[in-house]
Amino acid sequence: MQERTWWRNSAIYQVYPRSFQDSNGDGEGDLEGVIARIDYLSSLGVDAIWLSPFYKSPNKDGGYDVADPRDVDPRFGTLESAKALIEAAHKRSIRVIFDIVPNHFSTEHNWFKEAINSSRGSIARARFHFYDGRGEKGEIPPNNWNSIFGGPAWSRIKEPDGSAGQWYLHLFDSTQADLNWENQEVRRDFEETLRFWLDLGVDGFRIDVAHGLAKETILEDHPDPEGLTRALRLDVTDMSQADRERLLSDVPFFDREGVHDIYRSWRKIFDSYEGERISVAEAWVHPSSRAARYVRSDELHQIFNFDFLIAPWDAEFLISAIKRTLLEVSAVNAAPTWVLSNHDSPRLVTRLGGGSQGARKARAFALLTHALPGGIYIYQGEELALEDGALPDSARQDPVFFRTNGLDKGRDGARIPLPWEPGENFGFTSGNPWLPIPSSWQNKTITEQNNTSESSLALYRASLRIRGSHPALKASADQQIKWLDAPAGVIALAREPGFMLIANTRDEMVNLDFAQGYELLLASASGVEMSEGRLRLPGHTTCWLNSNK
Ligand code: BGC
Repeated sequence: MQERTWWRNSAIYQVYPRSFQDSNGDGEGDLEGVIARIDYLSSLGVDAIWLSPFYKSPNKDGGYDVADPRDVDPRFGTLESAKALIEAAHKRSIRVIFDIVPNHFSTEHNWFKEAINSSRGSIARARFHFYDGRGEKGEIPPNNWNSIFGGPAWSRIKEPDGSAGQWYLHLFDSTQADLNWENQEVRRDFEETLRFWLDLGVDGFRIDVAHGLAKETILEDHPDPEGLTRALRLDVTDMSQADRERLLSDVPFFDREGVHDIYRSWRKIFDSYEGERISVAEAWVHPSSRAARYVRSDELHQIFNFDFLIAPWDAEFLISAIKRTLLEVSAVNAAPTWVLSNHDSPRLVTRLGGGSQGARKARAFALLTHALPGGIYIYQGEELALEDGALPDSARQDPVFFRTNGLDKGRDGARIPLPWEPGENFGFTSGNPWLPIPSSWQNKTITEQNNTSESSLALYRASLRIRGSHPALKASADQQIKWLDAPAGVIALAREPGFMLIANTRDEMVNLDFAQGYELLLASASGVEMSEGRLRLPGHTTCWLNSNK
């Protein structure tokens, strides 16, 4: 059992390759850039990196529109660079996870080109969801579903003879055609893709839209398509929680039973390889208890737990989210995961209000997260306490911005290139960065934070080091935590042996008296005082304590 568990407790760092490090001056990050900065990742103390897609792609959705899943886009390098990256990481005991996108292919994929050049009912069209439209001239889409990115979920093609033709389904951008997972060729092709990268040495996969592959009632209208579209948004405010949960608990294109059969067959492939190859599902499911079904012992290894990605910094909310997660995953013997940010959501500091108060809360939130049993995911730049950058609309590239006519600004603000060092373009590129890097980041650079012991980077380094060495924190991910009585607004928990965490989510300082026999190990802010078992913990601060017995 022991050797099949590295991922249960790991710290995994998300590299968004386009914004990590440019090596050739074209203004976009690339795989050679990641190799060049691999020692940074090693010094941060992460166990693995997950790279967002770098496959051949017209890049209409940041590479999540894949035109060839078994090749590297020239903007990012070559297959040789992917191989060299795996080797460079492995040399430093860092594992490597790639991001696969099985829900859809780019309309630039050969299969799609073949489909539009073939006839109705052809083998080529059966790989996607092509249907005739409704109405006298087929001018009404096959159903009323909306795209997650805004606008309709169907686009109409021209038949090879030039006439108005069939419609194809795209849950995301119109350049991302949904694949038909009832088609055996689609299944075989993906299994080939998995083996292709596993043979190259990759340690696992992040599975994009893992809850979306199976669709049901595809020729029926949804009773409330606009409501469903709003409910699917993370920032929905004009809908009651009960209405939202009701709509999300039965989505004809998400979390259908059919997806589990696919993952059971993938698991057999992962297990047939040496060296604990793993998978992590990006699956938004409702109610959240359904998440555990993706990590049953013959399915995937991990599922992102997005509770913290949208959670307020509030003790009562967080305690109940943690308890619920631990209960649900332990029922299927899986390990929990904790995610504070990723490339699809506002950066943590921004989400918590921005500025110095946002940054203070973000540090406290990170220390809470890093002490929980299970795996943690860190999105590049989170360790630097970066905020979303302000961007002029003319710089935006996210299809969400275009498909909503600018109503939703999209996700570009969280995807701005990393500031490595002070100076023009921050050591990211010798050319023009693909998104402008805010000049206010001069004091947020990695060089600057390396030299400051109170920096966010120093805090992340310290917490990851202690997380990997303290016997209580590196204990099994199955370990239950012990909750300690604490005043409202305060989280207090213990892990054995000899570790205690106290987080104060209130504005004011709290005085607590249960720290007898403990000493301060790490704190997210200054001003924590301990004497004779009494702990004075400033507002929005988390501290780790260590038994001194
Ligand atoms: C990815 C997004 C992407 C979408 C469509 C997601 O969940 O994380 O970045 O736009 O899938 O592939």
